[in-house]
Amino acid sequence: MSDAPVDLRSDTLTRPTDAMRAAMASAEVGDDVYGEDPTVRRLEERVAELLGHEAALFCPTGSMANVLAVRTLVGVGQEILCESRAHIARAELGAHAAYTGLTMRTWSDPAGGVDLTALDDLFAPDLGPYFVPTVALAVENTHNFAGGTVVPLADLEALRAFADERGARIHLDGARIWNAHVATGVPLATYGGLVDVAAVCLSKGLGAPIGSLVVGSVDAVAESRVWRKRMGGGMRQVGVLAAAGLHALEHHLERLADDHVHARLLAEACGVDPAGVATNIVVVPVVDAPAYVARARAAGVLVSAVGPRTVRLVTHLDVARADVERAARALAVLAA
Ligand SMILES: Cc1ncc(COP(=O)(O)O)c(C=O)c1O
Repeated sequence: MSDAPVDLRSDTLTRPTDAMRAAMASAEVGDDVYGEDPTVRRLEERVAELLGHEAALFCPTGSMANVLAVRTLVGVGQEILCESRAHIARAELGAHAAYTGLTMRTWSDPAGGVDLTALDDLFAPDLGPYFVPTVALAVENTHNFAGGTVVPLADLEALRAFADERGARIHLDGARIWNAHVATGVPLATYGGLVDVAAVCLSKGLGAPIGSLVVGSVDAVAESRVWRKRMGGGMRQVGVLAAAGLHALEHHLERLADDHVHARLLAEACGVDPAGVATNIVVVPVVDAPAYVARARAAGVLVSAVGPRTVRLVTHLDVARADVERAARALAVLAA
């Protein structure tokens, strides 16, 4: 058995499998800026269909897909509301402000979900000339920093009704919507049907080396295509990358259930209630996160600090059951 560290820092760390590399090597390609890469087109059509939307746009990163999708809903000097630990608010380095000129206000929910009472207090479409108008709401499913939590379907339906009553639109940061789908059995198109636009990632649990997509109407995607180019994100023979995404969708979607089982095993070893672990992310409260990360590393397990007293463990394709068991044994003896 390998004694290399078990790397639980992120599900973005996966390396393409041999079968994925073979699919990439044999991909048919063309110039995607000219709309002539058949593999990219196939991927865009497939993802749009899965999410129940008209169209999709291949992007290099989830951050770019989020920026492009959100900017189809929110203009300069307008605001979007999101949960306080949302990736769009915390981890995109101000991209939405820098590129789109929008502002954000946030509500807080322990599980990273929807709080309609808080939203009702925040929502202000037209308070007069001194106030930023609210035009959109964002939801993250699964929610990364809340610990891979799944936003319940009933809450998403209530959010849709809330938005419709107020003429607002909804963005889904669905970087890990695949995990929510596998954990709950809710069809991807049901999740997609409750939002106006979405960003989804192939480069997280699905194990592709790169790739995210904006999903939405034909018009939203056409607008995103122009802005992607404007931002320097026009790509050429990227069918080799799209092929990895298509392979991932075909071969790595259902196996996410294994990652979810593995995450619950790790939670138990770390003294976290496994019943609260919905998908592939475990958030562990500790006394001193940097010190815990160092001790875990010394014990052969790589984890990341996501707050001064919080560490995060993420299971993925490159962490087999035996690695998980080895990590669980090592973490069980580390005091928090
Ligand atoms: C919820 C969520 N959204 C968006 C992103 C951004 O993806 P990328 O790293 O490809 O920009 C991430 C990345 O971890 C994420 O966790």
